[in-house]
Amino acid sequence: MKASSAPRWAPPRRCESPSPYLGFLGTLLGAVALLLSTCSDACEDPPEFEAMELISELKPYYEVGEEVHYKCKKGYFYIPPLSLLTFCEKNHSWFPATDEACFRDSCSFPKDPENGRVVFVNGTYSWGFEVHYECHWGYYLIGEAILRCQLKEEGPVWSDKPAVCEKILCLPPPKIENGKHTFSEVEVFHYLEAVTYSCDPAPGPEEYSLVGEHTIHCANHHKWSHNAPECKVVRCPFPVVANGKQISGFGKVFSYKAKVTFECNMGFYLNGSDTVSCGGNSTWEPSLPLCPKGPKPTHPTKPPVSNYPGYPHPKEGIFDPDYDTWIIALLIIIAILTVAVVIVGLYKYLQRRKKGTYLIDESHREVIFTSL
Ligand SMILES: *[C@@H]1O[C@H](CO)[C@@H](O)[C@H](O)[C@H]1NC(C)=O
Ligand SMILES: *[C@@H]1O[C@H](CO)[C@@H](O)[C@H](O)[C@H]1NC(C)=O
Ligand SMILES: *[C@@H]1O[C@H](CO)[C@@H](O)[C@H](O)[C@H]1NC(C)=O
Ligand SMILES: *[C@@H]1O[C@H](CO)[C@@H](O)[C@H](O)[C@H]1NC(C)=O
Repeated sequence: MKASSAPRWAPPRRCESPSPYLGFLGTLLGAVALLLSTCSDACEDPPEFEAMELISELKPYYEVGEEVHYKCKKGYFYIPPLSLLTFCEKNHSWFPATDEACFRDSCSFPKDPENGRVVFVNGTYSWGFEVHYECHWGYYLIGEAILRCQLKEEGPVWSDKPAVCEKILCLPPPKIENGKHTFSEVEVFHYLEAVTYSCDPAPGPEEYSLVGEHTIHCANHHKWSHNAPECKVVRCPFPVVANGKQISGFGKVFSYKAKVTFECNMGFYLNGSDTVSCGGNSTWEPSLPLCPKGPKPTHPTKPPVSNYPGYPHPKEGIFDPDYDTWIIALLIIIAILTVAVVIVGLYKYLQRRKKGTYLIDESHREVIFTSL
């Protein structure tokens, strides 16, 4: 609770020069007045505070040593020992200048709910602050989890009724066609209690598959962790991939969760997942791959860098920072270097040959020349 506006320092005032028309007496009086006003120069208006208000009458100015009285504002109460006074000091400031003697009123004490607790997140339950309600394990909250203590006309009041905690219970989970679940005779389930589903034997040759979560639990009040699974016949169509072949998962029928892996023929590349499985809707998941013709593109058809948004467009005539251009430039540089190396090499070779002719004897020269 700090002062909302810091005490203001009064500049020397009421220090008017004496009027020249008053004569000697006037000058004397003026000098005295000047002296007095400089020495006893007053304080300006006493400071305003967030938590306390002035009860002394407001005056045009205050003498040094004068005191003003405050009281705690509405919604605050006083605790000693700090006083509710401030004095006009010699240095034109008010001292002490604090409202720390006034404390905020509190709301009614928020008791822990049965099977839960109140958390004092701000460390206080006075107005302007909040408390949180929590329930113990296996219980759920009814009402507002956050209550704020608010200052109203009648004083500090809570923003809502206190929350209550109730036991988490679930009604029996759904019954399903062609299947059943465990604990089918239980009428009420408690928190985290679970049931497991299973499918009946099928009347025909095609078995039922349990599609979905086998085991579900009471996760919240009247809320099971998942939907009930389904018992149904799942048959996926024979998987055919043009220009490709199956490499594992062979079979005549493909029932729930059957896995098949493919490979593309020579000269074709795989587009999609090489492994698919038979999903609960009798479709392959993910969908069957494709085998388009050609080598697999190494870097997929990406627009050139210069077409990306935000990339500055290369100016005409200036080196285009395109991949292909760089390759060409590199090739030209390599070619120039190769030619240079060859020329230098040849030159050196010929030089040495010329020099060598002086050193070797006739017979050797014969050999060299004939070999040329
Ligand atoms: C004015 O004087 C008081 C004590 O007399 C002191 O606490 C305060 O800091 C002073 N203020 C300034 C601005 O000097
Ligand atoms: C009270 O605590 C909550 C949670 O920590 C916080 O979000 C909020 O700002 C605090 N309120 C005040 C007035 O400090
Ligand atoms: C793969 O197939 C999808 C559609 O089936 C197509 O959009 C995509 O471009 C293909 N990718 C390649 C690398 O061929
Ligand atoms: C299966 O079909 C149902 C209804 O036709 C649909 O709601 C569900 O999302 C489908 N599931 C899958 C895995 O495709």
